[in-house]
Amino acid sequence: MRIGVDYYPEQWDRDLWVRDADLMKKTGVRLVRMAEFAWCRLEPREGEFDFSWLDEAVGLFADRDIGVVLCTPTSCPPLWFYEKYPDAVMTEQDGRRTRTGIRGHRCVNHPATRRYCRRIIEEMTAHYAGNPAVAAWQIDNEPEAYFCFCDHCAEKFREWVKKRYGSLGAVNRAYGNVVWSGEYSSWEQVRLPFGHYPSAWLNPAYMLDHSRFASDSVIDFVRWQADIIRERCPGVPVTTNVWFSEHMPDFYREFRDLDFISYDNYPSARPPEEDAARVSHAFCLDMMRGVKRRPFWVMEQLSGGLGCWAPMGRMPEPGLIKGYSLQAFAHGADTVLHFRWRTANIGAEMHWHGLIDHSNVPGRRFFEFADLCETAKTLGEAVRTEILSEAAILLSFDSEYAFKIQPQTEGYSYLEQPRRLHRALTGLGMNVDVISAGEDLSGYRLVCAPEMYVADREAAEKLHSFARDGGTVILTVRSGVKDIHNNAVMEPLPGIYRDLAGTYVSEYCPIGRDRVGVRFSDGAVLSGEQWCDILETEGAETVAVYDGEYFRGKAAVTRFRYGKGTVYYIGTVGEQALYDRVVTEAVKEAGAAYIPGLPPGVEVTVRSGNGKKFCFVFNLSSRETSCVITGRRIILAPYEMKIIRTGEKDPVRDCTE
Ligand code: GAL
Repeated sequence: MRIGVDYYPEQWDRDLWVRDADLMKKTGVRLVRMAEFAWCRLEPREGEFDFSWLDEAVGLFADRDIGVVLCTPTSCPPLWFYEKYPDAVMTEQDGRRTRTGIRGHRCVNHPATRRYCRRIIEEMTAHYAGNPAVAAWQIDNEPEAYFCFCDHCAEKFREWVKKRYGSLGAVNRAYGNVVWSGEYSSWEQVRLPFGHYPSAWLNPAYMLDHSRFASDSVIDFVRWQADIIRERCPGVPVTTNVWFSEHMPDFYREFRDLDFISYDNYPSARPPEEDAARVSHAFCLDMMRGVKRRPFWVMEQLSGGLGCWAPMGRMPEPGLIKGYSLQAFAHGADTVLHFRWRTANIGAEMHWHGLIDHSNVPGRRFFEFADLCETAKTLGEAVRTEILSEAAILLSFDSEYAFKIQPQTEGYSYLEQPRRLHRALTGLGMNVDVISAGEDLSGYRLVCAPEMYVADREAAEKLHSFARDGGTVILTVRSGVKDIHNNAVMEPLPGIYRDLAGTYVSEYCPIGRDRVGVRFSDGAVLSGEQWCDILETEGAETVAVYDGEYFRGKAAVTRFRYGKGTVYYIGTVGEQALYDRVVTEAVKEAGAAYIPGLPPGVEVTVRSGNGKKFCFVFNLSSRETSCVITGRRIILAPYEMKIIRTGEKDPVRDCTE
């Protein structure tokens, strides 16, 4: 496992560089990421390039055997660029140009942005071509699928729509433009969704395409940069860094042509104590591993209290600097870079804390980081192990966009159900893959397919054959609701999943923030909220019924034998305990291995291979706790991560192993 840091030589005096590099070397830092925001120092005036300072920094690290990740600085073109091309900034929905002064203003579709980005990337990559210190390239910084409303984006969107549909008739049909007399009679009428009105007033089919277009635009920007980099620096891996933002590009498409995934990982500085809220941040890590189903990097890792965009938050509790990094490794990150080496003394982010405080006096967090570096050195063998999962959760970016466009009911949010299902699985000590709907499902015993909202026929077919062949599936509310254009299907829900579920929705009731009881056959009553599918079974058995409302007694959760497999349908958005219950039953049904009776907040992840098994046992609570792993009682201090090495055949999840 490689540990690194994010470093900003342009923000510090030169005499600090040497001291920092020495301390990094001594601490065990193996990688340093630099230059993602440094364009104004790399090209201070148009066409005048200065790499001397960066050469010096790269050289200092190289002399100490520390590799560097260089970034294309395209998130922050310098002010001289905007002075010359004032319209190369993003334009807001009301037509006003974004004001410069922060970062990420550039419109990725503007020809001047492309021209100037190309030149700086060509200069940089030519300059560093063949330099053995350069371990990887990062493209831009957190490129997001922002909506830009400039003329260039308008033209590009029109082209995008033309290419997708070919004729105006086809677009009108796909969007259902007849509603409110919105039919296009010329291509010029295909515009961006300008205006002040809430986007929910706009046509959902058109809006889904606009989200897809915004995602494609930034993905194109990233791929285009990757090509430029690879021309001069072949063989050096290329990535970009992402996070869970409001405007996520479709990660599955974005990383298809990049060499590895990198993720910016900012889990909570103090995980919630209440059991119900304790959804592990590992969901994000499992999703990142699932993007390419390969190891990934954390390009920015929590190092101190967060601040600057909001009032300052807590410092990570003792144990979490080390614990969270090892958790990332346990879930598939083979490289973790901490953001950032030292807290900035200048600029807007001076309250976003790094490993070392403003004082430059190394303190508690730094010493914990140093301890992490020591532990990382001992994990050599674990790097060559794999994370094998018997359970998977499916996600889709079309659904992510479509749910944002049309909020379903008060409190409903797309990722909530996948997270709760994940929590239920990790509560059983299981490894979980979070993967794209449509991926190959062979090798799993249990697949959770929550909210398969926008039809994906390929994914539906795979789920059918997975169940037919003996797999266990969990389906939930809001499945099979929309066709590929985001229009409602004219058939009982869950549409293309109806035969798989052996049940159909006779009526639904979006209950928003109200709650309804859900009664199981043993009399236990758990609660559902937000959404109620009132189910009529067609071969399925009823697992639980509603215990209130006008649909009291109607099926809320069902189970169906489909082929050799079993399919559960959860008809409401349950409290965590409801998922825990259904998932536990489904895991047993599937014959998957699990650990019963793990105390709340304890996460067990297993990496195995080469005759070895590494169990990462993480206490995400502020209380000392204990659990039994491979027959041994393990005591965990608050927020402690323990790594237990065993033979590959030793049972960890003793329930079926
Ligand atoms: C990340 C970003 C960093 C820094 C950090 C803290 O999202 O990539 O550059 O801004 O957040 O705010």
